[in-house]
Amino acid sequence: MLNCSSMDSLPDYSSLGLPTERDGLEQFDHLQAYRRLGPIYQLQFRGERHVVIAGMEANEAAWRNPDQWSYHEALVPFREIMGPSHVTQLDGDPHRRKRRNLRNGFAMSAVARHLPVIDAVLREEFARACGQPVRLHDFFMTALTQANSKTVLHCELNAEALAHFIAFEEEFISGTILGEARHAHYARPSFVAHREFVFGFLRELVSGRLAGETRPDSFQDMITDRRERGEPVELDELIPEAYLLLMAGTGNTAKMLNCGLQHLLANPGWLGLLEEELSGYRVDQFMAGMGAFPRLKATLMEMERMFPAAPVLSRVVEIPFQFSGFELSRGTRVLHLQTLPHFLEEVYAEPYRFDPSRWIDREYPKKAHGTFGGSTHICLGMNLVRIHSPVAIANLLRDYRVSLGGDPDIVVNLNYGVPQTADLTAHWTRRILTNPLAAPAPVAQT
Ligand code: HEM
Repeated sequence: MLNCSSMDSLPDYSSLGLPTERDGLEQFDHLQAYRRLGPIYQLQFRGERHVVIAGMEANEAAWRNPDQWSYHEALVPFREIMGPSHVTQLDGDPHRRKRRNLRNGFAMSAVARHLPVIDAVLREEFARACGQPVRLHDFFMTALTQANSKTVLHCELNAEALAHFIAFEEEFISGTILGEARHAHYARPSFVAHREFVFGFLRELVSGRLAGETRPDSFQDMITDRRERGEPVELDELIPEAYLLLMAGTGNTAKMLNCGLQHLLANPGWLGLLEEELSGYRVDQFMAGMGAFPRLKATLMEMERMFPAAPVLSRVVEIPFQFSGFELSRGTRVLHLQTLPHFLEEVYAEPYRFDPSRWIDREYPKKAHGTFGGSTHICLGMNLVRIHSPVAIANLLRDYRVSLGGDPDIVVNLNYGVPQTADLTAHWTRRILTNPLAAPAPVAQT
């Protein structure tokens, strides 16, 4: 066992004279703190001492043994809103069991089988919005949810239902980072109304399925698989799972696409190369992966790197462990800056430059990419994101010329909230079709 320094000697962020919480939640400067203090230091945040861990070494240490964390303690808001069986806040065996139960909905093969319908829905959504000013974030959330409602969880969503689901997801997620202030946030009558609508809608849908209705969607696959393995199939457990399929994470995907598009359109050289690659895009080519689209793949990796929608993870230590010469005891509140390596010059040259070409014929260490977290709690929706995003970009750039208007700045910043709140307005007009196979076809449900 190594000798550990006392936690009293832990370097302190406040000694640096850098911006703090008082200067605004987005003002912490962790890159400088990491440079000057090293991969572990302490910080006052929301009236409590937190230990910050950062860098590739922190990712290695945090993901080596997921059981050293208590997700139950760290992710209380998810339990409060989504219920005690919700995956995010489970630990140990119950978490492993839950992820096994969800596999048939979220594995790459489970998502990829819906590619043709996802493609057709997104194509229709782009066509519908053509020629008008479009608020990009709302557009992507709506389009992706529509795609989910025709693939992974079949259901009819009218305009009222969509509005409730989208507002609920946005307000639910933004509340999870508010600390104690979340109670007031979640008690607002508008949020209560969205919540009642969403859970009422899903309760009815799931009850129907349990009463014998079947649909050829991923939700059905999950239920069938569970029954075949003799696992219980219960209403209250299935409701938040249905939510995961229909809605979870769409705001994050929308944010990444939103910010990513702004940077892509500001790079005409790369944009031209990408448009050239996508001019002959057909969705069936994606069935074999992204091999035929190296520039698109590189573009999306660069979007993931620069715009990680959840840049910091809140953790609580369950089993004490050592990191960088200090022992973190049970109950320590930790901020794991899992995406800090995205902005380290020694890993990604000129890290603040949007440069997709850096990914061509080049791999980076796995521990340098923290966008989706890691280990057993790695983002459940990662495969969904990695299907939705290329299909969205490929359809948009193949069929349309896109411009952005009224752009607020997007600041790449590492903080505790979501750094890229860009409410962009876009406008697209149709290109002359060069690929007859790209002509819109009606949307069929899978
Ligand atoms: C660009 C979009 C997204 C980003 C950047 C993102 C990021 C993340 C991150 C960083 C985590 C934490 C992992 C950890 O604790 O180590 C996470 C967990 C999770 N994500 Fe995502 N996510 C995205 C989209 C989605 C989507 C579309 C879904 C839809 C189901 C989703 C569902 C989840 C769930 C359920 C968890 C908790 C998993 C667990 O605890 O086992 N996410 N995500």
